[in-house]
Amino acid sequence: MKTTISLIKADIGSIGGHTKPHERLLEACKNRLEEEKGKTLIDYYVTNCGDDIELIMTHTKGVDSKDVHTIAWDAFKEGTKIAKDLGLYGAGQDLLSDAFSGNVRGMGPGIAEMEIEERPAEVFVAFMADKTDSSAFNLPLYEMFANPFNTAGLVLDPKIHDGFKFEVQDVKGHKSITLNTPEESYDLLALIGLTDIYAVKRVYRKSGEIAAVASTEKLSFIAGKYVGKDDPGMIVRAQSGYPATGEVLDPFARPFYIAGWMRGSHRGPLMPVGEKDAIPTRFDGPPRIIALAFSMKNGILVGPVDAFADVGFDKAREKANEMADIMRRHGPFQPHLLPPGELEYATISEVLKKLEPRMKKM
Ligand code: 13P
Ligand code: 13P
Ligand code: MG
Ligand code: MG
Repeated sequence: MKTTISLIKADIGSIGGHTKPHERLLEACKNRLEEEKGKTLIDYYVTNCGDDIELIMTHTKGVDSKDVHTIAWDAFKEGTKIAKDLGLYGAGQDLLSDAFSGNVRGMGPGIAEMEIEERPAEVFVAFMADKTDSSAFNLPLYEMFANPFNTAGLVLDPKIHDGFKFEVQDVKGHKSITLNTPEESYDLLALIGLTDIYAVKRVYRKSGEIAAVASTEKLSFIAGKYVGKDDPGMIVRAQSGYPATGEVLDPFARPFYIAGWMRGSHRGPLMPVGEKDAIPTRFDGPPRIIALAFSMKNGILVGPVDAFADVGFDKAREKANEMADIMRRHGPFQPHLLPPGELEYATISEVLKKLEPRMKKM
């Protein structure tokens, strides 16, 4: 039996700014999914990271299933109605069109789906981030699957010693390329270090099985203007034939700077937190990430373990707060402010346009 894991996420409104959804929105989503449990869905888990709601669903319908996408869309629509009634901020923020025709791709929600042949003890980690975009996963995915200083298994474990394949998307040019590691590690880094252009979409074992998939939908490209950051999710398989769960989590113990934060226009550290701490309020951040580790048998989910709730990540949070202070010191200056290429859809373009007629030739 092949099992599909679908992570579909959207910001449909939040309390007091871009902080977190109201409990009733989460309930509405859970109720919709509960109705489908044992029918279209095998199992599900609903959570949120900041103001984004994530639906983690298991089923046998394959990726891009009209039935599953319709369930997700309906759940978000139902939640949006409540968000509007409550006057929540950004109600329906990520549902960019009403012309739904069975697939949420290009409609606003982010999607990460994989169809797998379950191992006897299947393990995967669902990552969900707020106040950033999918290229925030480039660095940690490289570390998980290609950096032996992070992943001891690349050296020690014959099952992963061959390395992995990375499918990289040019999110602006709508092109993609697949590169092998360790053979083409430097070529891969030449691309994915350019986080404003390239994002890792999938990682595969050399033998072909999928190892990871991330949502790479660009909200600003779909909407043609800034409507909130993409706030990505990803699914990463772990253990036996893949990096261990601890190897998958460890890149986040060393916080790094990513694009997003306030108005989607700033660089800031990505802070790993437990589910209950995924409430970004300081300057609408600092950007957050949660990690839920699941076991799965015949599509039935066991867990999750709220991985970043581990006190082992306390130091990372402290560090991220220090890194946030360093960036905040720059106020409206780069490098806190993102470069123009990453701000092209932000409201600053309107401010700059107003000044254009007053520019004198030199
Ligand atoms: P508004 O207050 O106009 O929504 O802009 C700030 C913001 O939150 C951007 O998403
Ligand atoms: P979200 O993308 O999480 O809605 O945040 C919008 C924003 O502008 C925060 O400052
Ligand atoms: Mg929001
Ligand atoms: Mg968000």
